[in-house]
Amino acid sequence: MKPTNSPKTYRVKSFGCQMNVYDGERMAEMLGERGIVPAPEGEDADLVVLNTCHIREKAAEKVYSDIGRLTKGKTQDKAPMIAVAGCVAQAEGEEIMARAPAVSMVVGPQAYHRLPEMLDKAVQGERATDTDMPAIAKFAALPERKRTNPASFLTVQEGCDKFCTYCVVPYTRGAEISRPYGDLVTEARKLVDAGAKEITLLGQNVSAWSGEDDKGHAVGLAGLIRDLAKVDGLARIRYTTSHPADMDDDLIAAHGEIDKLMPFLHLPVQAGSDRVLKAMNRSHTAESYLRLLERFRAARPDLALSGDFIVGFPGETDAEFEETLKLVDAVGYAQAFSFKYSPRPGTPAASMEGQVAKEVMDERLQRLQAALNRDQWAFNRATEGRTCEVLVERKGKHPGQWLGKTPWLQSAWFEGDVGIGDLVQVELVEAGPNSLAGRLRECVAA
Ligand code: SAH
Ligand code: SF4
Ligand code: F3S
Repeated sequence: MKPTNSPKTYRVKSFGCQMNVYDGERMAEMLGERGIVPAPEGEDADLVVLNTCHIREKAAEKVYSDIGRLTKGKTQDKAPMIAVAGCVAQAEGEEIMARAPAVSMVVGPQAYHRLPEMLDKAVQGERATDTDMPAIAKFAALPERKRTNPASFLTVQEGCDKFCTYCVVPYTRGAEISRPYGDLVTEARKLVDAGAKEITLLGQNVSAWSGEDDKGHAVGLAGLIRDLAKVDGLARIRYTTSHPADMDDDLIAAHGEIDKLMPFLHLPVQAGSDRVLKAMNRSHTAESYLRLLERFRAARPDLALSGDFIVGFPGETDAEFEETLKLVDAVGYAQAFSFKYSPRPGTPAASMEGQVAKEVMDERLQRLQAALNRDQWAFNRATEGRTCEVLVERKGKHPGQWLGKTPWLQSAWFEGDVGIGDLVQVELVEAGPNSLAGRLRECVAA
């Protein structure tokens, strides 16, 4: 590649999970430190970072089509500089470099703190790949948090040692690590100083977080939440994603004790059949999952539940799929995500016998989603008439209209004289399938 001018504007496009959103923000901050500014809406950027996801099929293909779109009909000096980051970069770094000459940088999720050095090389015309996994070193090398949204993300834990047989995450994000307690308290304070009212603690297995507090005592996620709840100006705490195996008594108790911990739990189950769960290498059964939820609900009766589901895991029979529907009926989720099984190269499930036909998966997904949508709407209707606190996150489609989140993570629309970041009391007037229309009661805190 030829040497080129240093980019002046950037755009980071993040796909996949919230951890990628967090990483995308951190990459943007690093580029900002170098004096590179976000490209104005509608204008081409000099540098595009594709922050990719590898969790399901077509993700990698999407990267190549995005690269094609960015470079189509453009000579090298007109095309943007392209960096591929995220989980596809980790899984297919070398292949991307070989297949896409327009890509200057490939950087894995544990190595993106090196993006500035790679950028220097790219400006000299050198292509660079970095898919090392130094894990924790990354965070220390990132700039301080200065800007944020009222509802912010904070990655506290990375990687996964669970090795569910369908999943690429242990390969793309590496082994489970916890960020140190002190670093997290500091980053949370910085986020609050920068305007955060709510912080969602993130991890592929967030409930496996462990550390030592200032006094050298061992603490788990519940202890961390307890201490973060003492941060002045922080009004709400959430965490995601949890694994049923790591939910301890302390975390359950925390839901009953800490007001700032929102009444919401995302706890993926994946399937309702114990045989399928075992083949997935999930350590829970349908029954143990339901018992666990009962304990959470006993601690926090208004807890809203969310989950993830996979239909058509290899060998899943019609009867086994029915057990998933039965479990959904038993739980009554407030919201949930559901996916067709997608064979991921290198994972054990990809070579299992009994791969399920696409049409069968389509039909199962449709039935599952109908049940989940029904329950989501029912949950929303059950909150009609309540007045609750809403965190204002953005402007709505119409003038004077605002969108915020209830404690149960529902989207609520309303009109009134408020601003982004306000915590206001809203009466939930009419429930729709995906959101609620509300009426502003009074401003609680600015
Ligand atoms: N660490 C989290 C989230 C993992 S990825 C957890 O353990 O729950 C988010 C969701 O994607 C998973 O919960 C699962 O439902 C889905 N998923 C992961 N791999 C998949 C695959 N190969 N095919 C379809 N869905 C998958
Ligand atoms: Fe993937 Fe399972 Fe780890 Fe979640 S717990 S990231 S589904 S391997
Ligand atoms: Fe996707 Fe990687 Fe997250 S594969 S879901 S971006 S951990």
